[in-house]
This record gives sequence, structure tokens and C-alpha cells, in this order.
Amino acid sequence: MPYICIMKIVFATNNPNKLKEVRQLLPSIEIVSLQEIGCTENIPETANTLEGNAIIKANYITKNYGFDCFADDTGLEVEALNGAPGVFSARYAGKANSEKNMQKLLTELNDKLNKKAQFRTVVALNLKGKQHLFEGVCTGEILTKKHGEKGFGYDPIFKPTGFNQSFAQMTLEEKGTISHRGKAIKKLIDFLNII
Ligand code: IMP
Repeated sequence: MPYICIMKIVFATNNPNKLKEVRQLLPSIEIVSLQEIGCTENIPETANTLEGNAIIKANYITKNYGFDCFADDTGLEVEALNGAPGVFSARYAGKANSEKNMQKLLTELNDKLNKKAQFRTVVALNLKGKQHLFEGVCTGEILTKKHGEKGFGYDPIFKPTGFNQSFAQMTLEEKGTISHRGKAIKKLIDFLNII
């Protein structure tokens, strides 16, 4: 395993919830936000895969701002909907609105017995001129209504396998040990061998 010493790195996201989760997962590194490097523009996510969008975001920052960085893209893949909303999870109901996205998904699954779903995160890391991808998957099911107030996005309607709480009923730490993002970041940590 390589030992790569990095003290700080840019996380290419404008999502404060993702920042909070990743800072909790990577306490030994200073995670620098886009705001902190002066990047206020919305990076267009035009790919039709999670991998593609994670790469677009990481490459945008490295190319335009010159920083090593990592980016994540996440999708909720629902079995009865053939993997939808997947890469289109953010705008499933037309606009980037979590409440409307959840309501649409609950309506779509209303008459379906199969509620199986998984969150999948792809992290793209640009480091010292090379790119590395890490994937994390968390299987579970879509609940019939919202449970809990914590977290963000689809958290109130997603219950991970083996647990009887939704992500929105868990603490940041609990979610981080089992979540898609937690697993992808764990792979990044193992790659960097920093803990
Ligand atoms: P993106 O990775 O920012 O493109 O996220 C896609 C969609 O999934 C957005 O609607 C997010 O709110 C949602 N999302 C991303 N990560 C999570 C998560 O960990 N829990 C719940 N929803 C999430």
C-alpha cells in the first residue's frame, strides 16, 4: 500500500451535508470546500453515469483551479423501477427538491411490493496527476412514508438492510459506518493509507 501524505484536499461539492459527512469520515485531513477555494459556480453534471459525473466534477476543479481534489456522485437505484432514479436522483421530480423527489418515489412505489433499493456512490480522486475511482454501495429498502429528521436527500425514506431505522433516524456516525458514501470514503482512506 502506498503511504501518501496529504494534509488537506479539496472536496468538490456544494452540498453542506456531504461536506459534514465526509469531514466526520476523514478527521485526519483538512477537507477544503469549494466555497473556500472561491468556486461558486454550479458544475454541470451532464454525464449519464455516476462515474462520469464524479469525474466531471473532480476534473473541473483540477483543470480550472489547479488543485488535487475528490468529488462524489450518488444515485438511489430502485429495483422495481429498473434502477431509476439512479444518476438522475437529484432531479427526479424535475427540480433539485428533496421533498418532491421523495413524494414522487413514494407515489411510484405505492402499488409495488418490491421496495428493494440501493444507494451507490462513486468517488473520483485526482491526485498527483492520476485519477482513481472508489465505489460504495448500501442496500436497503424504500419505506412507505418518511421517518426521521436527520440527514438529507432521500434519507427519511431509505432503511438500510439489517437496521430498523431510516438513515434520517441515525446519527452522522451511525450512517457513516454503513452508508454508500462511508464505504467509498473508506476505500479512499485505505488507498491513501492515512489512518
Ligand atoms: P448528487 O450526488 O449530489 O448528485 O446527489 C443525487 C441525489 O441523491 C440528490 O437528490 C441528493 O440529495 C441525493 N443523495 C445523495 N447522497 C445522499 C445520501 O447520502 N442520502 C440521501 N440522499 C442522498
